[in-house]
This record gives sequence, C-alpha cells and structure tokens, in this order.
Amino acid sequence: MQKVETTFGPVLIGQEALDGLNDWLKHAEPTLSRVFVLVDENTHEHCLPTFCAALPSLPPVEILEIPSGEESKSLEMVTSLLEALQEHRADRNSLLLSLGGGVVTDLGGLVASLYMRGIRHVVVPTSLLGMVDASIGGKTGVNLAGIKNSIGTFSPAEGVYCYPPFLDTLPEKEVLSGLAEMLKHALLMGESALSSWEALSSTGNEEFALALVESVQCKARFVNRDPSDHLGIRAALNMGHTVGHALESVLLSTGLTHGEAVAAGLWIESLLAEQVAGLPSSTGKRIRSSIDQRYKRLPRVDFDLLWKKMHRDKKNQSEQVTFVLLHALGQVPILYPVGRSLVLDAVEKYGT
Ligand SMILES: NC(=O)c1ccc[n+]([C@@H]2O[C@H](COP(=O)([O-])OP(=O)(O)OC[C@H]3O[C@@H](n4cnc5c(N)ncnc54)[C@H](O)[C@@H]3O)[C@@H](O)[C@H]2O)c1
Repeated sequence: MQKVETTFGPVLIGQEALDGLNDWLKHAEPTLSRVFVLVDENTHEHCLPTFCAALPSLPPVEILEIPSGEESKSLEMVTSLLEALQEHRADRNSLLLSLGGGVVTDLGGLVASLYMRGIRHVVVPTSLLGMVDASIGGKTGVNLAGIKNSIGTFSPAEGVYCYPPFLDTLPEKEVLSGLAEMLKHALLMGESALSSWEALSSTGNEEFALALVESVQCKARFVNRDPSDHLGIRAALNMGHTVGHALESVLLSTGLTHGEAVAAGLWIESLLAEQVAGLPSSTGKRIRSSIDQRYKRLPRVDFDLLWKKMHRDKKNQSEQVTFVLLHALGQVPILYPVGRSLVLDAVEKYGT
C-alpha cells in the first residue's frame, strides 16, 4: 500500500487501502456517535457490498443514496441530505463516509462541512477520476444555475482511501474519463510518465497501480504548494480545461464525460502550445497522436458558442482567452492570452 501525504491529509492507495480504513475505524469508533455512508445507485450496487465486507470495524451504518450523475450536485440535494442527517439524529460526532465517484465525494464533502458546522468525513473514491483528481485537494462543491462547482468549500476529508479493485466494475467510458486527467498529470510529470500512460492497457495490472500512485502524487504536489488555490500554482492543473470545460458545457446533452472533453481540450491546446508557448512540434504531435489512439473525436460544435463558453458566458468578451500552455514535457505550464483566430484554427484542425 502506498501513502501519499497532502496538506489535506493522507491518501492511501492499494489493495490494502480498505484494511487501512478498517484500522482507522477501529481507533475512531469509540468517539463516533453515528456513521453514514453516502452512495449513488451504482456504487450502492457495485462497491458497497465489498466495502462493508472489508470493514469488520464498521459499526452499524445508515445508507444515504443519491441518483447517479451530475444533476445530483445541486443545492436541493444538499438540503435533502442535511435533512436526512437531521432525521437520523446525526450529531457533531457523526461520520460521513463518501463512497463513490467525484459527484458523491464533492457532494458528501460539502454536506459534511455544513452539517452542524462540520462533521467528520472520509472519502473512498470508486471512479478513476475520483481517485486521481476529485478526492485530492480538499475541494467540495455543487453546481448552481448551470455553473459547475459555484457553491463549495475547502473541506478536506480526514482520509482518502483508494482501493483500485473498485475500478473493475467502472464502465469503460468512465475509465477513459479518468485516463484523461492521468494524461494531464503525465504531461506535467515528463517524458517517462507519458510513455507509461501511452502503454497503459488495463486498470488491473501493476503498471496501472504504479501510474495511479504517480498521478495522485502529481496532483498532491500542486495542491500542497497552493492549498487554498490563491497563488496560481494549481492553475497548472487546468491544462486542457479551458477548451475542455467549454466543450463539456456545449455538448452536455450528448452524455460526454468530463475526461472526454478534457482529452479534446488537451489535443486542441497542444496546438496552441506549439504556436504560443514554444512547445516543440514533435511533442505536440505525439500528444495528439496519443489522444487519438484512445479517444474518438468529438462532434463538431458551433465555434461562436464555444468561444462564448471559453469566456465562461461573461457578457464582456475580450478578444483573448487565457490558456494554460505547456512549453515542454515535465515543465510547469504557463498562462497565455490567445486571440480568437488562433483558437479557431486549432479547433478547426481538430475537426470539431
Ligand atoms: N473536488 C475536486 O477537486 C474535483 C476535481 C475533479 C472533478 N471533480 C468533480 O467530479 C465529478 C466527476 O467525477 P466522476 O467522473 O467520478 O463522476 P461520477 O461520480 O458521476 O461517476 C461516474 C459514473 O461512474 C459510476 N461509478 C462510480 N464508481 C463506480 C464503480 N466502481 N463501478 C461502477 N460504476 C461506478 C457513477 O455512478 C457514475 O455513473 C464532477 O462533478 C467534477 O466536478 C471534482
């Protein structure tokens, strides 16, 4: 089992991660009043039985289930979960265990931070994106009026326990979603991490286990240096996301995952990086070809709409949008303003 220290607490990763959680529960149990497990219907079915069986120290729990999907990240759902906690007489010594992907852990983190000004919270991510991204860094949140994560807190869980066998039941589309964030981390780490990413073939082997740990370490390095996201250091983690978020919002109704949008974003932004940040064209080509080997191109979208979304729908749209662009593998990317015509050109080359 690997332990990655973050400013927000430890992340345990590996086949023994649930043993680690069991040990934690053994020590915490005398101080706990009630224990709640938050799941969605998929993690209820696929992960909860394994989770309960692996935790003999788990006291009797109350299961809170939400519908799966981004729509559950709403203030209405926060209210309904807070009411459920109250109905079940949760108090300040209660523990909420969030067992699920980023939706469950973002929502669970927010609810745990609000109920009675904060109850104990532990995260067990079950999706790949949850393991390498959403569960690391202390951010919680829900969406408001269609704007993602506009309500949230910095509320680190007491521990994060990544048990890779949960990925066995994760749909392929969701594996690809997490792999896109792993690719972003690989680009931040350097050539050998990119080669490892290119060679990943299954979530069940040793190479994948190692890549998972390195990916968590990569995110932890950035959040550790900028825990409250005020210094601009975490901005590096937004590489691929200026275009990615815009595509996600335009193509929302198509069932596109976050990672599919980020992969397309990395593709398009690698072209901008060549033109604006001096990324060698051989590296840019390699990034695009690695993405093409795993991901289908997204459907074409209206560029004016995409450009508007890149301004995050703000009324005052300047002539430029800021991108996080890489100048070499393994180097920290830098923010650059880029004009409309270059972005249009890159988007047209992608074909969307
Ligand atoms: N807090 C952060 O720093 C941060 C960072 C990145 C993303 N996020 C958030 O994370 C969310 C996306 O996370 P996600 O991709 O995990 O989405 P998700 O939670 O919706 O999970 C994706 C799908 O996989 C299912 N699933 C999860 N684990 C499973 C398993 N083991 N077996 C079978 N099915 C399983 C879920 O039910 C869901 O249908 C977004 O809301 C995003 O805003 C947060």
